[in-house]
This record gives sequence, structure tokens and C-alpha cells, in this order.
Amino acid sequence: MASVPQINSLPRDPLRDVIRVGMLGFGTVGTGAYRMLQDNREAIARKIGVPIEIVRIGIKDTEKPRIAPTELFTTDLKAIVYDPNVDVIIELIGGLDPAGDLIEQALRNGKHVVTANKELIAKRGAKLVELAAKNRLDLHFEAAVGGGIPLIQPLKHQLAGNDVIRLMGIVNGTTNVILTKMSQEGAEFEDALAEAQAKGYAEADPTSDVDGFDAQYKIAILASIAFGKEISPDAVYREGIRKITKKDIAYADVLGYTIKLLGIAEAKDDGILARVHPTFLPKDHPLASVNGVYNAVWIQGDFVGDVMLSGRGAGSDPTGSAVVGDLIDVCRNIRIGGAGNAIPYEPGAKTLSIDENVTRFYFRAIVSDKPKVLGTIAMTLGDHDVSLAAMEMRVLDPSKNLGEIVFLTHPCKEANFRKALAALPPTGVVEEVASWMRVEGASLVVEATRAE
Ligand code: HSE
Repeated sequence: MASVPQINSLPRDPLRDVIRVGMLGFGTVGTGAYRMLQDNREAIARKIGVPIEIVRIGIKDTEKPRIAPTELFTTDLKAIVYDPNVDVIIELIGGLDPAGDLIEQALRNGKHVVTANKELIAKRGAKLVELAAKNRLDLHFEAAVGGGIPLIQPLKHQLAGNDVIRLMGIVNGTTNVILTKMSQEGAEFEDALAEAQAKGYAEADPTSDVDGFDAQYKIAILASIAFGKEISPDAVYREGIRKITKKDIAYADVLGYTIKLLGIAEAKDDGILARVHPTFLPKDHPLASVNGVYNAVWIQGDFVGDVMLSGRGAGSDPTGSAVVGDLIDVCRNIRIGGAGNAIPYEPGAKTLSIDENVTRFYFRAIVSDKPKVLGTIAMTLGDHDVSLAAMEMRVLDPSKNLGEIVFLTHPCKEANFRKALAALPPTGVVEEVASWMRVEGASLVVEATRAE
């Protein structure tokens, strides 16, 4: 990173009588944070020792009705970042720029920063955290992942003594609303999406959520904090939920699973494997009952064991609550003259390709319903070191001799599984591999033994 110019440090003064905050952006999250700061003003002031005052709010559109006094608003965002009366900047514009540029200027100008900007933190967090740490400033971003759920701060503090082995979570509310509707009501994806849009859970352009980009950013951030190394979103394998059908959800149900869009990051012997994709999850897994707008992250640490944190993953009030929590932390630091809380990540994490993933798989194939079908499929998979664990078959159309078979495999390397699938249609018995998904949980043999 380029050399850091001299810091125009604010006095850290336990005798100060107010902490002054400038906000950049005043949409859904900004409104929630502002309301919380007003409604709980006295309790928050008691917890810090002095009151917080919002002194300026930067916006683009001055015509929109707002809940804060008109005189606070300005369209000159840079003026807020350079205002000598502002101690802390709350950035809620979102996206890379101008948000990133403004945060950088704020940090160079001695101001602590709280942000909810997941794309920026996922892509440029390492550099910004380094800049904050060099300048002994706080850069907090709890609201970037999991709305109101405390995730980043527990990973940075209470769980920091652990070697994280694995974390796995539902970190996107929109897709969880859609998948919950599909599994509870037997809806197809397009209908569940349309309803989520009509109810305001999904955006008019749902790409970021349903194609997994939002979850990819969030898992990159969580993995970077959990493993203490910079994990770029590009290193997180990503698949969305568009291809999921009610048929696969029904088969999952029969086999004892529910389908969730999971973000998973795990430390393997030779690197970190991070991925976001729809997953068969056993119905008795703690994450399986996290439905609708709720998010949850399940963390396995070497000393703490399993920890699950859950709550509302989006929305004005929960996300506003995360912003205010970060702000209170910053204000306490200002009062005690504490050093910045930013913990730089190590560069150069070794990340693994999805080919290295070892898991069980589900797949559904349309087959010619004739002798040796099962044997041919088992042989082809076996040639690629993929072993079958369970199956379910039914006749689809007797006049065309078509059948449908679903399989669960034993754990195998993903690269082998993909090669095996590609080799199936040329066998002459498999018309089409209609769908496939990764499966979490213990092997079927273990499950069956437990059931006895
Ligand atoms: N679009 C996100 C979600 C909101 O559905 O979870 C907060 O990141």
C-alpha cells in the first residue's frame, strides 16, 4: 500500500461532551440506524458516557422525504469527510466508488469509519483495514454480513483464540425466503421469486441474491476474519439457486434433507476452500430449521466447539442495530483514547479450487428404462472412483421407456464426480443428468447405524 500521509488525528478526550458523526447515505439501513440513535438516545449515551450527535448526512436526492431534520442534509459528501467537527463517518452508500474513495479519505483524515458495505469490504477490505490500523483508527463492518446478527465482532474478539476449522452459514435472506417457500409450499423457483419480489423481499433485479454474489461477498469477509487471511471473493466458488426445481426439493425431502443456499469456508491441509452453492442439508442439522428472512452461521472452533449465531439477516432495524453497535464501540474507544480495533489480515492465503472439494453428491438422471441401467451407471461412476450409497427409481413414461433415478454418493472428490457425470450420457442408458447438488452431513451408513 502507498505510504500513509500524516494523520490529522482528532484529540481522544475522555472529558469531551459529545461525539459527532457524519453519515454518508440515508436509505433503508441509514434510516434504521438514525431511528435507533434517536429512540435509544439516553441509554446509548449512558453506555458510552457522552451523547452521540449526527451532525451531517450526505445524500444524492434532496427531494425524498426523510425522518431527520432537513438542515442536516447535504449533497456534498466530501465536505463531511473533511469536516473537522466530525469524529466518525458512517458509510451506507454501498458499492465500490465513491464509497471506497470516501472511506479512504476519511481514514487518511483521522476519522473512524463504520460501514455496511459488503462489496467494498469483500474486494478492498484488506487495504482499508491496513490503512485504519496504521492510522490507529477503527474500521468496523458488522452490518456487512448477516444484518443484525453479531458475527464479525465475535469472530474478531470472543472466538479469536480459536483456530477456526470450518464455518457454514445461510447468509442471504432473499434466497432463504424463496427456498423456504419452495419447500414448504411446493412452489417452483419462478413463482417463489415473483412472490418474494411482490412482498419486497427480493429486488426487481434479483441477480445479486439469487445468483449467489451477495453470499459470495459475505463468505469472503467471514472467511478473511475467521482465518486471518485475505480471501478475495474471486476465490470463493459460487453457484446460485435458479436451477433448483420443486422436484429436487421433493426428492431431498424423501431422502431426509432440506435444500439451503450455504456459504462454506474450511481450512484444509493445503489451503482454504470457500464456496457458495445450494446444498442438501440433513433435516436435523441446526441450520436446516433456519427459515425465511433469518440467517445463521455455524462456526466450528478447535477449543470452543460448535457455535451457531442466528437472527434477522436484513432490514432497516436489524442492520441499523449492527451499525449502531459498531458506532458505540468506536465511541467508547474515542472516549478512552483506545487504539484502533482494526485487525489486518495476512496477505497471500492459499485458496483451493472447487475441484478439491470432497463431499457426497445427489444427482437425478433421466434414463432409458431397460436392463443393465443401474449396472452401467454404477460402472461408469466406479471408473471415476465414485461410489453409490443410495438410490430411488421410478418409471416416468412407460410408452417411451423412460425412468428417473436419483442417487446419493459416498464422499468423493468433486473433480472425479464431475468427470463421472460427463461420462454418463454417452453410455446409451442415461438420456440426461437433470440436476445435481452437493450433500452435507455424515455418510448414510453412519446415519442408518444411528437410527437403529
Ligand atoms: N440482499 C441481502 C439478503 C440483504 O437478501 O440477505 C442484506 O445483505
